[in-house]
Amino acid sequence: MGDTVAEIIDVVASSAPEIRGGLTGRRRKADEQNPSGETQMAADVWADELLEERLTAIDGVGQFASEEREGVIDAGEGNYAVAVDPLDGSSNLKSNNSMGTVLGIYDAELPAKGTEQVAATYVLYGPITTMVVARDDEVTEFVIENDGTQRTVTEDLTLPDEPVVYGFGGRVPDWTDRFADYASEIEAELKLRYGGAMIGDVNQVLTYGGVFGYPELESRPEGKLRLQFEANPMAYILDAAGGASSNGTQSILEAEPAGLHERTPLYLGNEALIERLESTFA
Ligand code: AHG
Ligand code: MN
Ligand code: MN
Repeated sequence: MGDTVAEIIDVVASSAPEIRGGLTGRRRKADEQNPSGETQMAADVWADELLEERLTAIDGVGQFASEEREGVIDAGEGNYAVAVDPLDGSSNLKSNNSMGTVLGIYDAELPAKGTEQVAATYVLYGPITTMVVARDDEVTEFVIENDGTQRTVTEDLTLPDEPVVYGFGGRVPDWTDRFADYASEIEAELKLRYGGAMIGDVNQVLTYGGVFGYPELESRPEGKLRLQFEANPMAYILDAAGGASSNGTQSILEAEPAGLHERTPLYLGNEALIERLESTFA
């Protein structure tokens, strides 16, 4: 069996121009809901089906799971499980703002702890299509050309030491008091950059330094983002880039999964800012 992790990454890269190209004409709502109870966009369903077909065809892939599907798909004998958010920030489609594809590669049965990942990646459909890959404790950034080839633009991508930007999701009146306390400190120090797609918002933190959060809410203490498909892969990438992650009390990667679609509060960014969050919450 060849380098399955590389094969998975190549499939995501080579599919990126097609997913991006297929967004126009799929900006309408599908008449279905995803397992998280959110209305699906036609583009969510389409990107999910395209990636499921291509990823399950890889010999080394044994399981496929998606934010858009109830259960784990058995893909045969492979040692690796892939967890996919085929289109992150799909509500940005209507407003033509950035979106992305997120994928975590686990060498364990899903649902699994973030530490059971061996690699993680995201594609950002921004003004240009870029892809960030974390593997073997190193982060690399690629531009994805129109033919799906990966052109390396940043090797050993690391979080800048000096934080500059922050982005916090949810509605301010719905923030818990302890998060609101933390947020008011950060707001006095950094510049607000929140675009409504985790991928774009976290990519800004990786580029400029800072902190991203989709926090616990009064109305929803578990927050909005999903552990398997969004939090774990992004936490894996931030850790490999010299940053940190938290669910408010511990690293996202240490969180024991309760269910495939479990949500978690998610905080990502410079280590010192994450430590400050956890001490505010202690
Ligand atoms: P998805 O489109 O995969 O459901 O993800 C959307 C998520 C995430 O991208 C973003 O951080 C968050 O939803 C935005 O939520 P709000 O619209 O509540 O800000
Ligand atoms: Mn998402
Ligand atoms: Mn999604």
